[in-house]
Amino acid sequence: MSDVQSTGLLYEGKAKSVYTTEHPDELLVVYRDDMTAFNGEKHDIVANKGQLNARACEFFMCLLEETAIITHFLRMVSDTSMLVRKLDMIPLEVVVRNVAAGSLINRYPFTDGQSLDPPIVTFDYKSDERGDPMITPDIIFALGIATAEELDQMKSAALQVNLILRDFFDLSGIILVDFKLEFGRAGEIIYLGDEISMDSMRLWDKETHESLDKDVYRFGKGDVIQAYKTLLDRILPSEG
Ligand code: ADP
Ligand code: TMP
Ligand code: ASP
Repeated sequence: MSDVQSTGLLYEGKAKSVYTTEHPDELLVVYRDDMTAFNGEKHDIVANKGQLNARACEFFMCLLEETAIITHFLRMVSDTSMLVRKLDMIPLEVVVRNVAAGSLINRYPFTDGQSLDPPIVTFDYKSDERGDPMITPDIIFALGIATAEELDQMKSAALQVNLILRDFFDLSGIILVDFKLEFGRAGEIIYLGDEISMDSMRLWDKETHESLDKDVYRFGKGDVIQAYKTLLDRILPSEG
């Protein structure tokens, strides 16, 4: 039995369900086995996916908390659910790229696998109906989504996360190609929210460039759960 009582479904996203709790500042996030890509165009139920991503997210949020990054993570409630600080989410996907891949090479004349030094940070407007279009600072300010100061804060936090995660993965022979973050406000403070997992990063084996992330599912490159397990086996302290 969980010690956290959910008091209602707040939001059902494509991969996670978010519940209110008896504590007004805390939410219960349940990682489901739904796997989607291309804004939900592709959808499957993949056994154990929720648990693997929840474990990964717990690990990365704790790793970042050990540095100066402030995250919404409070604690695990079960192996597929966690208690988080309730945030007023800023509808932006902050993407950091060390290597050209994905939508960057579809939209611009970069070569697949080209190193990006310095890393590129871009912002997408989080809107399923509009297909998460890339957004500029001026549009962000004109829409009142965030202030210039908040945008600077999110960009520098994202670059700091990049340095921490890039070095961490490098030790396991893995290239952090790119990743997406979401932030939200609680009072005056901006927290790192949502998730960091194999769904939200591109990770390649350093030698073979084999994908160990959601691209395995997106592009039908093999057994996505095996890829997620391989990734966790390579980075997590032995869990027996
Ligand atoms: P999506 O909405 O993209 O389909 P998910 O299935 O991952 O995504 O749903 C999780 C939702 O919860 C997202 O909309 C995300 O912005 C939101 N969320 C993540 N962390 C928090 C938080 N700490 N407080 C409030 N909402 C959050
Ligand atoms: P992209 O190359 O498709 O723009 O993706 C960049 C990174 O962001 C990649 O690591 C996957 C992640 N991502 C998400 O987490 N959610 C999304 O909805 C999209 C489109 C990408
Ligand atoms: N997050 C989006 C989806 O789940 C897009 C993607 O990851 O490809 O549909």
